[in-house]
Amino acid sequence: MSSSIFRKKRISDLLAIQPKDKALKKELGALDLTMLGIGAIIGTGIFVLTGTGALTAGPGVILSFIIAGLACLFAALSYAEFASTVPVSGSVYTYTYTTLGELIAFIIGWDLVLEYLLAVSAVSVGWSGYFQSLLSGFGLHLPAALTSAPGTIEGHTTFFNLPAFLIVMIITYLLSIGIKESKKVNNIMVIVKVAVVLLFIAVAVRYVKPANWDPFMPFGFDGVFAAAALVFFAFIGFDAIASAAEETKNPKRDLPIGILSSLFICTLLYVFVSAIMTGVVPFMQFEGVAHPISLPLQVAGQTWVAGIIDLGAIIGMTTVMLVMLYGQTRVMFSMSRDGLMPPFLSEVHKKHHTPYKATWLFGWIAALMGALIPLDELAKLVNIGTLSAFILISIAVIVLRIKQPDLPRAFRCPAVPIIPGLAILFCGFLILQLGASTWIRFAIWLAIGVVIYFAYSRKRSKLNESK
Ligand code: ALA
Repeated sequence: MSSSIFRKKRISDLLAIQPKDKALKKELGALDLTMLGIGAIIGTGIFVLTGTGALTAGPGVILSFIIAGLACLFAALSYAEFASTVPVSGSVYTYTYTTLGELIAFIIGWDLVLEYLLAVSAVSVGWSGYFQSLLSGFGLHLPAALTSAPGTIEGHTTFFNLPAFLIVMIITYLLSIGIKESKKVNNIMVIVKVAVVLLFIAVAVRYVKPANWDPFMPFGFDGVFAAAALVFFAFIGFDAIASAAEETKNPKRDLPIGILSSLFICTLLYVFVSAIMTGVVPFMQFEGVAHPISLPLQVAGQTWVAGIIDLGAIIGMTTVMLVMLYGQTRVMFSMSRDGLMPPFLSEVHKKHHTPYKATWLFGWIAALMGALIPLDELAKLVNIGTLSAFILISIAVIVLRIKQPDLPRAFRCPAVPIIPGLAILFCGFLILQLGASTWIRFAIWLAIGVVIYFAYSRKRSKLNESK
């Protein structure tokens, strides 16, 4: 086998039976995957960042959601084609390994750490905000030093976000004891959070004053685009479905259904929620509000509904962390099995059949980052990592169509190369809106990854052993 950085895995090898001691249980169907998708998608984005988005774009944040949703739709169609062609664990990392070669696959796996792992941290911060709001409803308050990351609350000394840390530890435990338990917990929580979002829409719609939508874009298209780059976070997660391919009963059919249906449902909900939020209260009132979904209901005097929404948001964000941490461990599982990461990351627990060592390692890292880093910083890094991954997957779908046109594909992305081309265009445009400090942090992260690849992964790659 060549030692080129462009050496690739063969798709036929990928589809061959995996060694028994490293096999995962197959028990997910299309509905489970849709639930997994919604579980990953609806969270801190809609419950917390919509307020920041409204401050940036005014009621035009509705357009921001549509722009970000379109970027995801185009990328999702490419994702679905790959997911149905290469249905093994590891998501976009694995697909890139077969098309663009080992170095780019490694980089994309490294990118996904930013997406999945930091998303767990970012969502834990949003979770902590709503949890503290709920506690305060019962007259309970944590010591200020333990409520937030250092330097995040003006006039207060804060050290550590304790609720954010603890919730990630609980999630980690659930995942370490197995997909079955996690799936059940996830399904119940998804039903609750969709019900809560529908409740918000049904109750708040009666208080909309169309005058609040005027002016619609107080900061012009600049505001709308900047908000789109931020609220993009609200859509992240549908791609985590693809990382569950190896545990899916009929991946060729179920993966595209799961990805597209969960994305479609969430886009509809976001457009309604953002339209109603900005219709009930003037957008300036979202300044400094940590729970912007309940604000319109409090303003409308529906305080008991607002309380239910707080609770639903807490539950909703819990499922996001569950799916994201799951995605993270599965990508690392695949990279480790390929020799690009240390072998202990693909060790499967004898009783629970889970990559428990990877789960605990990444659980600890995510918990500490959430406790120590502010939400905005985390969300922007998550967005840039994800947008880059989306661009690479869109390139990969075009490359694979040219190089292996006859490969069986259960789901074909329509209008290739136009749709993947649009995904590249939209995602590239959103990256441009994120700002220089985020680009620099991302570049440093990539540089560290490239060093690890050349110093460790390239020499230990399993491709060195094959002929
Ligand atoms: N889309 C996920 C959220 O909004 C990451 O929390």
